[in-house]
Amino acid sequence: MKGVILAGGLGKRLEPLTRITNKHLLPVYDRPMIFYPIQTLIDAGIEDILIVTGGNNSGDFLRLLGDGAEFGLKRINYTYQQGEGGIAEALKLAEYFVDNNKFVVMLGDNVIDSSIKLFVEKFKKQPKGARIILKRVSEPERFGVVELKGKRIVSIIEKPKKPKSNFIVTGIYMYDGEVFNIIRTLKPSKRGELEITDVNNAYLKREQLYYDILEGEWTDCGTFRSLLRANLLAARKIKECRI
Ligand code: DAU
Repeated sequence: MKGVILAGGLGKRLEPLTRITNKHLLPVYDRPMIFYPIQTLIDAGIEDILIVTGGNNSGDFLRLLGDGAEFGLKRINYTYQQGEGGIAEALKLAEYFVDNNKFVVMLGDNVIDSSIKLFVEKFKKQPKGARIILKRVSEPERFGVVELKGKRIVSIIEKPKKPKSNFIVTGIYMYDGEVFNIIRTLKPSKRGELEITDVNNAYLKREQLYYDILEGEWTDCGTFRSLLRANLLAARKIKECRI
């Protein structure tokens, strides 16, 4: 199965750290942020990877990662997102790469300390549709939040003022080739972006949205607090740090 890492956008919430470089090149403990999603995909058995980047210093990804030999990869594929039209817009650029096959997407600023291999295996057995990974968090309003009735997802709302649960959609998504037809129907949201939450809601409407719940730790790196959390998570994982 192929994997796509989305590492575009301007990372404005991390100004001035992101003024002259790309968010995903910032350090998370002992390595650049982008190393984490790459390793997560490789650990799940995904070795054909496309990185969608954009914004500041996108050329530096090539200097940093080269052909991926450091990760034991034969090559890494790259593509460029002009502007920052949203996660779903960045994902659209992967259409040529995945070629109507099922694939896994990970946001370039998501850091976890456990494996997603089991979820990917379940997705492989799933005949069609999408699979998302949920995580229970204490501040859900910053994310895509699911409303659950029993075990059934009834809606996903992006950054709700009054979250209907503590379960959020992490930046790890699995889609079939239909995702590109769905993206073509999307309209920009109030923040001017093509929203990944709208993609997931479209699968929900088709009754083709499945989910798993992540038990291990998860964080994004979108804010100073979450970037700090990612650093602590990474440090603890390699047990060099007792913070
Ligand atoms: O991290 C999980 C959350 O990610 C989800 O719960 C939300 O539903 C989802 O919308 C997203 O929320 P954020 O507002 O935190 O996303 P952000 O704009 O920070 O973008 C996250 C990553 O997506 C970013 O590190 C790189 C990629 N991205 C984003 C944009 C806006 C792109 O590649 N291109 C873009 O244009």
